[in-house]
Amino acid sequence: MSDECRVCLLGLIFLSSLLTGISGVNETHVFISSGENVRLPCNNALHGCNSTTWIYNNRFRHSTAVELIRLGIKEKDTERHERLSLGSDCSLNIRNISTEDYGSYICRQYVNHTQQGPDARVYLHVLHVSSSQTEISAGLSVTLFCQLYSYDGGSCDDWIRSERIQLFWVNQTGVKLTRSDSRYQISSSSDHCIITLNTTLLNEDHNREWRCEVTQRDQVKTSVTYTVKSSGEK
Ligand SMILES: *[C@@H]1O[C@H](CO)[C@@H](O)[C@H](O)[C@H]1NC(C)=O
Ligand SMILES: *[C@@H]1O[C@H](CO)[C@@H](O)[C@H](O)[C@H]1NC(C)=O
Ligand SMILES: *[C@@H]1O[C@H](CO)[C@@H](O)[C@H](O)[C@H]1NC(C)=O
Ligand SMILES: *[C@@H]1O[C@H](CO)[C@@H](O)[C@H](O)[C@H]1NC(C)=O
Ligand SMILES: *[C@@H]1O[C@H](CO)[C@@H](O)[C@H](O)[C@H]1NC(C)=O
Ligand SMILES: *[C@@H]1O[C@H](CO)[C@@H](O)[C@H](O)[C@H]1NC(C)=O
Repeated sequence: MSDECRVCLLGLIFLSSLLTGISGVNETHVFISSGENVRLPCNNALHGCNSTTWIYNNRFRHSTAVELIRLGIKEKDTERHERLSLGSDCSLNIRNISTEDYGSYICRQYVNHTQQGPDARVYLHVLHVSSSQTEISAGLSVTLFCQLYSYDGGSCDDWIRSERIQLFWVNQTGVKLTRSDSRYQISSSSDHCIITLNTTLLNEDHNREWRCEVTQRDQVKTSVTYTVKSSGEK
């Protein structure tokens, strides 16, 4: 190796360590189903939580970021404040998750009005299932929509590619329902992170369960089960 190249190599190493230093934000992805409770870890917490500030960002819903917790104390005027609490490890707990809670959450530490270290960011992805019908009975066709709500800053296609996120419908025994299964029409829209299941209900479907799963790097992260309750039966 020439001296020149050794220098440029060192330069590159220096540059890349500088870049990871700047963008050295600790990022976590958390997946949860609507209606559940969630804990978002604060991966840069200091001793005690009185330096902790939690900021919520969802470009689609708010033009600016919203402070949920300021220096360890819950802000009273946010729409969701009743469902929020700060864990003893400075994590943010949110009860009864709704589809409006998805987005980017930042944990940031301040001491003497000065930010300490880089942010820790949590992307919250919310899985939700809805049905085309409220009253269902044998002979009717029903469509189940399973949607993953993710941060608006990136399209679902980007998440699917960069975080290897996938959505599936599976049956009671955990077998993936596919397009080739004649009973079901499965279709997906990757730009909106939706997978739909369309089928005509049979008598024996009463109490049948279909489950929508989200996987990241081939690991199941969360799922929602839909149980058929045919209105014709008890
Ligand atoms: C983020 O911080 C946590 C806790 O310090 C650590 O366990 C995790 O590995 C970090 N993640 C990344 C991507 O650096
Ligand atoms: C925050 O907590 C630490 C340790 O519990 C304490 O030493 C410090 O004085 C507190 N700071 C403020 C601003 O309350
Ligand atoms: C959870 O939130 C939904 C609305 O998103 C509400 O209808 C339901 O009553 C809430 N459940 C509890 C246990 O608070
Ligand atoms: C914060 O201010 C106090 C009092 O001025 C000082 O003792 C302490 O070292 C400061 N802490 C940091 C992290 O700057
Ligand atoms: C699940 O799907 C597999 C493959 O189509 C099928 O063999 C199995 O009987 C199904 N199980 C249930 C409970 O529907
Ligand atoms: C579901 O399938 C039925 C029967 O094939 C069809 O009539 C209906 O339009 C489909 N619905 C959707 C939303 O694809």
